[in-house]
Amino acid sequence: MRRLIFLGCMVILAACRQAPVLPTGVVADNAMVVSARVEASRIGVAIMKKGGNAFDAMVATEMALAVAYPFAGNLGGGGFMVYRKASGDIGGLDYREKAPLTAHADMYLDSLGNVIPDMSTVGATAVGVPGTVAGIIEVHQKYGSLPLNEILQPVIDLANKGVVVTEKQAKRLESYKERFIAVNGDSTKFAREFKAGDTIKYPELATTLTKIMDQGRDGFYKGEVAQKIAAFIQENGGFITEKDLEKYEAVWRYPVVFTYKDLKIISMSPPSSGGVTMNQIFKMMEPYDIGSFGHNSEKAIQLFTEAARRAYADRNYFLGDPDFVDIPLDVILTQEYLTQRMEGFSFDGATPSSDVSHGQVEVLESMETTHYSIVDAKGNAISATTTLNGGYGSKLYHPELGIFFNNEMDDFSAKPGVPNMFGLIGAEANSIAPEKRMLSSMTPTIVEKEGELWLVVGTPGGSTIITAVAQTILNSYEFNMSMQQAVNAPRFHHQWLPDVLMFEEEGFSGELKENLKTKGYQIMEGRSRIIGKVDAIKILPDGRLEGGADKRGDDTAVGY
Ligand code: DON
Repeated sequence: MRRLIFLGCMVILAACRQAPVLPTGVVADNAMVVSARVEASRIGVAIMKKGGNAFDAMVATEMALAVAYPFAGNLGGGGFMVYRKASGDIGGLDYREKAPLTAHADMYLDSLGNVIPDMSTVGATAVGVPGTVAGIIEVHQKYGSLPLNEILQPVIDLANKGVVVTEKQAKRLESYKERFIAVNGDSTKFAREFKAGDTIKYPELATTLTKIMDQGRDGFYKGEVAQKIAAFIQENGGFITEKDLEKYEAVWRYPVVFTYKDLKIISMSPPSSGGVTMNQIFKMMEPYDIGSFGHNSEKAIQLFTEAARRAYADRNYFLGDPDFVDIPLDVILTQEYLTQRMEGFSFDGATPSSDVSHGQVEVLESMETTHYSIVDAKGNAISATTTLNGGYGSKLYHPELGIFFNNEMDDFSAKPGVPNMFGLIGAEANSIAPEKRMLSSMTPTIVEKEGELWLVVGTPGGSTIITAVAQTILNSYEFNMSMQQAVNAPRFHHQWLPDVLMFEEEGFSGELKENLKTKGYQIMEGRSRIIGKVDAIKILPDGRLEGGADKRGDDTAVGY
């Protein structure tokens, strides 16, 4: 009888994988933006409604997030964008921060060679040369269709009118208050208490945005704003000069492209590790029929974890800024190499990370970035992830310019073998050098199915970004979930070191965890965190768009 029921379930499951799933998220006929704040999604959609394309909407959404979501949206940080035009042309933009000209490999070490606590994470010493403004201007010049003032004026209006504090934002501001004061003094704008429903106005940021609207990148990287940024960072002990700002350039980079069964996955190339690491994970899993194992089942978790463990070990060793290091992509992305990497894998037990490599570390801080996905009425798609690194970056806030500065320098490996704030251990490939870009995990991704645009997906989450994006794609493809279900589904994470399997609080039974423990998996105990905050769009079979706005945040899909 049991066998029969089991067989019945398997048949139903197999049938489910075939049948198109009904959408459960916001559905729109023409165009959509999914982002961390409703204000930003609305501004992006308004730009498309008045005739702008997805690239115009990106410029507006990115800047609107800097106003409405200063936790991660930014002018003082950087990011990556992957696009797919309706014609099928693809590309990627790297607007990642760079190390300043005076940076060097040992800059965060004391005279004994030990890492100086907080120096790469808090205050001016942590700040990398910002890339966001160069990124949006580059996008606008190459692919924009509306004049910059039509795109930026609504954002400037939002900054002047102010943004209403949400419940979640009020909590966050409260939890960061002491850190803001420690870095900026108690007269800082963010030293006061904010309640849900309060409105915060950003007139200083509106002025800076107006300069960018009028002068393009020179409004930020040259002249008065650049002088103010450099002087302020140096007064606070940091390293960025006017020359650093003037020299900054965003770089177009061809994405990493690979197939998984009948999907074509297009994701960010180095200096982000996202595309390469996800490529390795998917190709290590491909020989198995994970869809038949069941969503978040023991076997599915094991397969994914073992692939991720091996891929992250490679990530940490091989990957860095491709302008500075040779990355052996022609080897580490081949099926032969990846099949070999999985040779020791068995469903009977875990492969300890010490057998894959060495080291013992701890994941320290939670992490804050933001992702948005856009599709316009013509079918052009944008997937962009942008960050200050930690929540509000270095916490350093320029009161006159209205800008928080990143603490992205911590994404470098300050010392080989010593973990950064995401517990990631780096190697020589990611050591600090002047003008080098620090390795990232950001994974803005676009997926084609049978040659057509199918998913636009990405997330914040530091080192967990890659696994969260991969699981969202698997949820949609292998487990036939709607976009919203795929985004909301509980997630897990493994990154080689520390050798622990992390689970979100909801959705994983005690029995499942016990079984995994018996097989040799070390389960992360104690307070569980959320893993990623995915914002995604799916193109439904009838051509409409379904948004997946992560329930874990204030994220919102808006479309028309
Ligand atoms: O580039 C990276 O990998 C990190 N700076 C991303 C930080 C992040 O995702 C924080 N988010 N929640």
